[in-house]
Amino acid sequence: MEYKKLNNNLKIPLLGFGTWQLKPIFEAPQAVAAALEVGYRHIDTAHIYFNEGSVGKAIKESGIEREDIFLVSKLWNFDHNKVEQAYEKSLKKLGVDYLDLYLMHFPVTKTRISAYKDMEKIYKEKRVKSIGVSNFTIDHLKELMSQTEIVPVVNQVEFHPFLYQKDLLEFCNKHGIALEAYSPLSHGKRLDDTTLETIAKKHNKSVAQVMIKWSLQHGNIVIPKSRNLGRIKQNFEVFDFKLNDQEMTSINNLNEDYRTCWDPTKTS
Ligand code: A2P
Repeated sequence: MEYKKLNNNLKIPLLGFGTWQLKPIFEAPQAVAAALEVGYRHIDTAHIYFNEGSVGKAIKESGIEREDIFLVSKLWNFDHNKVEQAYEKSLKKLGVDYLDLYLMHFPVTKTRISAYKDMEKIYKEKRVKSIGVSNFTIDHLKELMSQTEIVPVVNQVEFHPFLYQKDLLEFCNKHGIALEAYSPLSHGKRLDDTTLETIAKKHNKSVAQVMIKWSLQHGNIVIPKSRNLGRIKQNFEVFDFKLNDQEMTSINNLNEDYRTCWDPTKTS
């Protein structure tokens, strides 16, 4: 596994396992167990996924030491006025006594600054290893950095070849914020793209593997998700090939600002 050093020197595994939409009883436990078995050591969940309990149980049952897993959860929008309680609740559900990364899930207009300051407090008390944000635009980040103390370690956003957020990536790089790509497979919507198929064939890889690799080569942390054991394994096998400059450019050119998820640019 390869790692990235965050702006507070914490090391994060570049490839993580996303758990959005994994059902708490019939999917999350099996999928997280499989991911850990395959070798993923970075698991991403959130209060609003309603699967923190199953994620925590799968981690415990894996027998892997807590400190060998990079565990991420997120503060939900309705909890901005009770950050500390929300954090404690996530810890309790996950059955752990700290998170490696706690993210603000969404830049809620009126409350994001005060909620982030409450997250800073938890960080300063050393109860969480790092704090960051999700779904923040450049404007949201500029505002945050002008009014708070701690630069977020990560901005987790939708990012894939059809939503190549070049300006946001450059802004994050400039300010030491790691970009973390969620829905790196375009939520499964564009796996039939012919440009990607041609490149994948050349490398004897799948389109999904090429999409993950493209994002990794942009320096991103990437968190694909799957409920299928074979695909969980396949998505992890991306460290044995490299896309050349021409292939990277062809994939960059697929951008059409296509969002499969929330559009945070509409949030003032
Ligand atoms: P499944 O859970 O049946 O594997 P994203 O991470 O971009 O949101 O994409 C998730 C979607 O992509 C899910 O529908 C998932 O379906 C599908 N998926 C995940 N990995 C692969 C893969 N290697 N090949 C094809 N589809 C995949």
